[in-house]
Amino acid sequence: MAIDGPAGAGKSTVAKQVAEKLGFLYIDTGAMYRALTQAALAREIDVKDEEALIQLLRNSNLELAPSSTGTTVYWDGEDITEDIRSNKVNQTVSLVSSYKQIRLYMMEKQQKLASEKNAVLDGRDIGTHVLPDADVKVFLTASVEERAKRRHTEQLNKGLTSNLEAIKRDIEKRDELDSNRAFAPLKQADDAEVLDTTCMDINQVTDAILDLVKEHS
Ligand code: C5P
Repeated sequence: MAIDGPAGAGKSTVAKQVAEKLGFLYIDTGAMYRALTQAALAREIDVKDEEALIQLLRNSNLELAPSSTGTTVYWDGEDITEDIRSNKVNQTVSLVSSYKQIRLYMMEKQQKLASEKNAVLDGRDIGTHVLPDADVKVFLTASVEERAKRRHTEQLNKGLTSNLEAIKRDIEKRDELDSNRAFAPLKQADDAEVLDTTCMDINQVTDAILDLVKEHS
């Protein structure tokens, strides 16, 4: 099952809930691009150097492990789950994920994971490239103001400082880069169901998706 959409649309929370209800594996594909970005930054590898990034990826071990909080991310055995959500990673990940070689490598990994077990994958290109034959495809969206507000509240609830305007700018920038890259951009698949969640809460979105699953089965 494919859940795509722009930054902050609630994909991961919803995908996690849907996977749990269906007994499916949840695969956070954004976490994979974030992990590579974090590993490159930590090693001071130039993120403009596609070749250096692909070498890093090929010579490392990236693992996603399902956990009670969602997904634990390991890079060569080191838990980097928290680090991949930093502002620096937010600002750099769209560049790292724009390289074709990197996308092809990640896609292969994602397709392999999805072939082993029933799975819900969330991302930007799942319905269009990674799983073009997915049984159910959803494109989740919401106004940028609403998406920024949700992120802001999430940060404040975690006891972190947060700047609503900065979050909004970050989301807009990331969406623009993700939508305009040459290979596998953020795009709604022709056969995806679009859900505008601006006026919906998480449980309503999850229920709407579970209804779609029922319709398809
Ligand atoms: O989903 P999340 O916001 O964590 O994704 C982080 C970034 O990873 C996105 O902004 C995008 O640049 C990249 N990404 C992607 N393709 C995916 C998932 C994420 O390019 N399937």
